[in-house]
Amino acid sequence: MAGARQNAALPIVRGQVDGETIVVRVTSTPLDAVGGRARVASTAGAFLVTRLDTTVFVALTGTCSHESCQITDGDAQAFVCPCHESRFSVEGMVLRGPAELPLERYATGFADGVLTIRL
Ligand code: FES
Repeated sequence: MAGARQNAALPIVRGQVDGETIVVRVTSTPLDAVGGRARVASTAGAFLVTRLDTTVFVALTGTCSHESCQITDGDAQAFVCPCHESRFSVEGMVLRGPAELPLERYATGFADGVLTIRL
């Protein structure tokens, strides 16, 4: 059954839209530590963000490549879509379908505790 997997809702972190950029202050959020991840919510959409290293982040679209559900969950290794349980790696690659296409990835920058996601 679907409920047997240990999915959990991703923590939400607010992002501010500034032109073509999403600005995220990571201090005191789950993204403050290496290995942290969160769903960044903004008026320009939601993004799945993982902090890989001190200054290295990966930002993916929060919209599933299968039928456009919002990806709100994760397990220990993957982002998980709640609609049909497609699983995606931190880099956005499909680990398990029904999705067939990877998640779109956005360029990021980081300085002075502020992550930027470029649209
Ligand atoms: S919409 Fe995400 S798995 Fe179907």
